[in-house]
Amino acid sequence: MDAAPAPLVIVISGRGSNLQAILDEVRAGRLPAAIRAVISNNPAAPGLDVARAAGLNTEIVDHRDYPDRAGFDRALMEAIDRHAPRLVVLAGFMRILGAEFINHYTGRLMNIHPSLLPAFRGLNTHARALAAGARQHGASVHFVGNEVDGGPLISQAAVPVLADDDSAGLAARVLEQEHRILPLAIRWYLEGRLSVRDGRVLLDGRVQPEQGLATLSPAGAH
Ligand code: GRF
Repeated sequence: MDAAPAPLVIVISGRGSNLQAILDEVRAGRLPAAIRAVISNNPAAPGLDVARAAGLNTEIVDHRDYPDRAGFDRALMEAIDRHAPRLVVLAGFMRILGAEFINHYTGRLMNIHPSLLPAFRGLNTHARALAAGARQHGASVHFVGNEVDGGPLISQAAVPVLADDDSAGLAARVLEQEHRILPLAIRWYLEGRLSVRDGRVLLDGRVQPEQGLATLSPAGAH
């Protein structure tokens, strides 16, 4: 890898498996990133242990310490900006961010969401996909925009919904895809290959098909 590693800040709330996937790619030399900090709003997030085990700098900005969302957002922004990251990655971050925060990071704030957006924004996406009788489900990486789980899509990966799926089984298959598409999107970004025009993301100057990275298996194709 020729390029100097770019500073990255990762923001989490929970388990940290996406963080682990990013770390694995950095370690393998496939991601030219230097993770300057892992910040959690949840002091009990197991993902903090993932970060500590990797010797990363961890920080906690607990939303419960602030009277309102704007106060929390500002504290999080300050914590992030101290590291001057080139890109901020929300990797399982479970709070809604306000407009000031989002506008501050326009074009350099990426989120992973466990659904094929715009379907199933918000929480409990796997149970909702099953309840809706969806034939396919999946994950999306996007730049964060002003709507919850909205903003220009970078990539998506689809998985078929199987006849005997339950929410946990479906979640596990979607998670595998998250671990693939999030580090890849970060790599594209750091390699300067992503741009945004008219709300659509371009890779190497070309608009991507809606599901450019779909991995739908023949069993789920229809
Ligand atoms: C992932 O499914 C992420 O997309 C979602 O929360 C989960 C977090 O998983 N919003 P992890 O903390 O990365 O393991």
